Amino acid sequence: MQYGNCVKPKLLLLRNIAQLLTLTLRSGANGPRRGASLSDLGIIQNAAVLCLAGKIVSVGTTKDALRDPWLSKNRKKVTEIDCGRRVVLPGFVDSHTHPAFTHPRLVDFEKRISGANYEEIAEAGGGIRSSIDGVRKASKAALTKKVSAVLADLAANGTTTVEAKSGYGLNLESELKSLEAIRAAAHESPGTVVPTFLGAHAVPPEYSGRSQEYVDLICNEMIPAIAQRRLARFVDVFCDRGAFSAAEAAQIFTAAERHGLAVRAHMGQLSETRLGPLLRYQPASLDHMDHVSDADLPALARSETIATFVPGANYFLGLSKYPDARRFIESGVAVALATDYNPGSSPMLSMPMAMSLACTHMKMSPAEAIAAATINGAWALRVADRKGSIEPGRDADLAVFDVSDYREIPYWFATNRCAQTIMNGVPSGHLSK
Ligand code: NIG
Ligand code: FE
Repeated sequence: MQYGNCVKPKLLLLRNIAQLLTLTLRSGANGPRRGASLSDLGIIQNAAVLCLAGKIVSVGTTKDALRDPWLSKNRKKVTEIDCGRRVVLPGFVDSHTHPAFTHPRLVDFEKRISGANYEEIAEAGGGIRSSIDGVRKASKAALTKKVSAVLADLAANGTTTVEAKSGYGLNLESELKSLEAIRAAAHESPGTVVPTFLGAHAVPPEYSGRSQEYVDLICNEMIPAIAQRRLARFVDVFCDRGAFSAAEAAQIFTAAERHGLAVRAHMGQLSETRLGPLLRYQPASLDHMDHVSDADLPALARSETIATFVPGANYFLGLSKYPDARRFIESGVAVALATDYNPGSSPMLSMPMAMSLACTHMKMSPAEAIAAATINGAWALRVADRKGSIEPGRDADLAVFDVSDYREIPYWFATNRCAQTIMNGVPSGHLSK
């Protein structure tokens, strides 16, 4: 979905950029970034970017841009942004968020501080199930307002494309309401939102002990209704101990396929599940990936499926262990980073913070973290033909950071250095001199 009531300058020139991270490969190779190619940011020094009607039309040095005869002739028609020798990169693609909820889970937070873990809290009635009531009682307008606020906060931190999941309504009516709220918020936003149906987030209390009946409801009623209304692009499943089994996930993926929806899953957050049976459905992404067998890495590396790490969840759940990113990268798996914004395990809206955690706790280099948060995030949402890189023909989604070296983006943590975003050609705010 891509909308915006905002004023879109026809011609937009960003110039005087110290480092422009294009995320394009000189070889012209296409496909998700793996291994060494994750570190190639395609940097142009002293750069400029010209955009027309929401698309990027040319990329090069500021000197060449200003010498261009066509641009000189049309200069008066151009809205110019002097980037003041800052860093410009593709707007982040946050490929995993859960924004359709109403309340923070402060009791869970305190219980965890006192020693309980995520699964114990869920078994005692907290966790995902404790967010259901709020969503079922909320009006669509209230949920829309909440999702809009999240999109604005994400954009302020440099994110221009967001995947947004339902998953706290867990009945037909409230899942539809959540996805409709996501659609309404997307309409009001200048950015891009990719909606995902996550009915298989938890078994709701009224189906307690009857999970197969709930899975049948998802497959036979919810997925057809959502597909018919075009409310989601993806179907997601929380496939883990205490959530849904691989067999249940396969049944849900089969129903999604039948209705023309692509699939993705939460995998290996709490326990190991073998990936083989689900890779057959060509999921766009498998997310968390804390517990994955070595034996599954070659098949994952041969596939187009992205392994998306969400280190904000490890941080917020107080875990000392993080996914072993080096093992994935060295096996040739294409990896992405996302916030996993949600009220239980990751109330975090900052992609730079996710990148900082990936650098400090997962030993990803700053360059790898940037590729994982941009171009590979775009592959994880199957929008890499439009998003995640700065090249002619792509959407004009850019983030200007108030730094002079890209490595500062994950270096300065718990502070927001994003000075401006451009979403589908619409600039937000003004840069200070
Ligand atoms: O990705 N693991 C499942 N889903 C979310 C948590 C959702 C919640 O606790 O509300 C996650 O971490
Ligand atoms: Fe999640």
